[in-house]
Amino acid sequence: MKVLLLNGSANQKGCTYTALEEIGRTLQAEGIDYEIFQMGAQPIRDCIGCRQCTGQGCIFMDDPVNAFVRRARSADGFVFGTPVYYAHASGRILSFLDRAFYSSKDAFVHKPAAAVASARRAGTTASLDDLNKYFGISHMPTVGSSYWNMVHGSRPEEVLRDAEGLQTMRNIAHNMAWLLKCIEAGRERGIVPETESGSWTNFIR
Ligand SMILES: Cc1cc2nc3c(=O)[nH]c(=O)nc-3n(C[C@H](O)[C@H](O)[C@H](O)COP(=O)(O)O)c2cc1C
Repeated sequence: MKVLLLNGSANQKGCTYTALEEIGRTLQAEGIDYEIFQMGAQPIRDCIGCRQCTGQGCIFMDDPVNAFVRRARSADGFVFGTPVYYAHASGRILSFLDRAFYSSKDAFVHKPAAAVASARRAGTTASLDDLNKYFGISHMPTVGSSYWNMVHGSRPEEVLRDAEGLQTMRNIAHNMAWLLKCIEAGRERGIVPETESGSWTNFIR
């Protein structure tokens, strides 16, 4: 089993990464593989609502969204990490996830996921709310912890001194591992999710 973690910061070894690494190490101790996917610092396009999504993902090929979707297809769970920018999730991660989910929701459906926010001081719960919305509309069980999923720091050394934040990261990993093992045990007994579809009600008819 494998969890794919997305670093929504352009800082490849910054505070968000430090939080994700703590989750990854704990997952590994639980016997679960992990990979941290770096969005990097290159420009990330916004979704322009062109509805030209293909089986390969988003029509735009000049940034890493489709590469992430390919990794997502073989992942069993996800952690999306973001730095807090002006009390919301980074614009980069929202553009990235809008396109990943709109073009390729099937890569994520019914897989457990957690959002993580890293801030110097404030805006974390609003940022978590931004990211949790992708899970809510995609049948994804949301993984919680012993506190809201956040760490605090301007530099990685400060995050490493946030003892409760790091404990919260480890408990995300423990809960993720537990859920993944439960899902696997259920699948072996034929317990799989039921999904109803067909209704698509627009209110401007
Ligand atoms: C444009 C910008 C806006 C920011 N806004 C906030 C904010 O609203 N609240 C906060 O606590 N920190 C804010 N910060 C600080 C970062 O969220 C914080 O340092 C974070 O841990 C950086 O993570 P990273 O090292 O992974 O990039 C902001 C940083 C930047 C660059």
